[in-house]
Amino acid sequence: MFPTHGDRLARLTAAARRHGGAARLPHGPVWIYLFTEPELVRETLVTRAGDFTVGRKLAATREFLGDGLLGSGGETHRRQRRVLQPAFHGEAVAGYVALIADRTERALAGWRVGSVRDVREEVTWIARDVMASVAWGEGPRGEDTPAGDLAPVMEYLERTTTPAGRIGTRLPTPGVLRARAAAARSRAGVEAAIARRRRDGGGGSDLVGMLLAATDEAGRPLPEALIADELQTLFLAGQESVANTLSWTLWLVFERPAVVAALREEADHALAGMRPTTETVGRLRMARRCVQEAMRLYPPAWAVGRTAVRRTRVGTWDVPRGANVLVSPWVTHRDPALWPDPLLFDPDRFAPAAERARPRFAYYPFGGGARTCIGAGLAMVEATIILAMVVRAFDLRWAGDGPPRPNPQITLRPEGGAPMLVRSR
Ligand code: HEM
Repeated sequence: MFPTHGDRLARLTAAARRHGGAARLPHGPVWIYLFTEPELVRETLVTRAGDFTVGRKLAATREFLGDGLLGSGGETHRRQRRVLQPAFHGEAVAGYVALIADRTERALAGWRVGSVRDVREEVTWIARDVMASVAWGEGPRGEDTPAGDLAPVMEYLERTTTPAGRIGTRLPTPGVLRARAAAARSRAGVEAAIARRRRDGGGGSDLVGMLLAATDEAGRPLPEALIADELQTLFLAGQESVANTLSWTLWLVFERPAVVAALREEADHALAGMRPTTETVGRLRMARRCVQEAMRLYPPAWAVGRTAVRRTRVGTWDVPRGANVLVSPWVTHRDPALWPDPLLFDPDRFAPAAERARPRFAYYPFGGGARTCIGAGLAMVEATIILAMVVRAFDLRWAGDGPPRPNPQITLRPEGGAPMLVRSR
């Protein structure tokens, strides 16, 4: 069903629309059930969540990420989620504002007017630095973080999402070897950092400190390998989608002078020339809505997969054990029945009254239910701050050949990156 090339997104949309927000598609020896109608999405992610485990794509990440949150299931997942949650709830996220502003300011200080920057790469670095501080407290930055550069690992994981790609990953090609080496380096760095902290007596309110202090039901500490799995998972999950979100957002925004003007007015007024703080970040409403609207049109998690662990029902559909189920923010977020004039970029769709008028699962860039993105709050604050600080400092112009084309890999990335020309404001 899914070709390696060609427009998978258009096919997915056409299939879902033909059958009113649900479809059953042949996929080798099994079926893929596609649900995009909000109530069916809710059933898949929330009501019947117990009948499903993570989809095959995320299951494939276990080779590198072991029992980290993304790929684990059942009791391991529930326990790990409980342990990690405090590092990502509202108050904790508020505590990261200064750090995000600092890392963004440092990155922007290197942008020269007249140069072309790949904003996807730039944001990856910011997000990586932020994750490093969340994980290890202040300290290592850039490539010096214990997790190192995970780009080759991400590339490898993306290849594992197609059958042809999976065969390719069994061959010792330069790409595969590079990914394995990067993964091994990253793992060794993370394990050494954990061991160092343990030798120093644990402690610390950062993630490593929390994970080292955590115990299971029997009061036993978590195995070091599991702690490493979790940290690597967060590093990988915390960079790629934030970088893609900002790439789409900056492109969409800077194509629209009126939106840029409104964002500047807001940033100038709310921040008064200062760095964003816990207090002022809440005033960046327009920036936040632009990020939300960009994630509507270009949801980084364009599809979220599940595998049925037993026979179940979703709406009137009988879903057999072992079937793959997909819900697709890409399809739902562009449904004209839910989003009038769906291709129009309109941040006001996220004004509170408009939000209340829509079904909950008309919009789910962060998924839903027990596996909702644990980093959603952090990602929103990061993206809002970066957007506000960029528009305040610069004018950007898309420098690619033609508009960016969405490439649906594990996340929805702009094909060829996000090159933008930096101009003075
Ligand atoms: C705009 C940025 C982001 C988007 C769009 C996004 C999207 C998602 C989605 C849709 C899921 C659910 C996957 C599923 O149900 O199978 C998810 C899960 C997850 N995300 Fe994010 N994410 C973002 C940023 C982050 C950040 C910054 C972090 C790190 C702190 C993170 C860590 C995770 C983890 C660990 C999970 C697995 C949660 C679980 O299964 O309990 N994400 N993300």
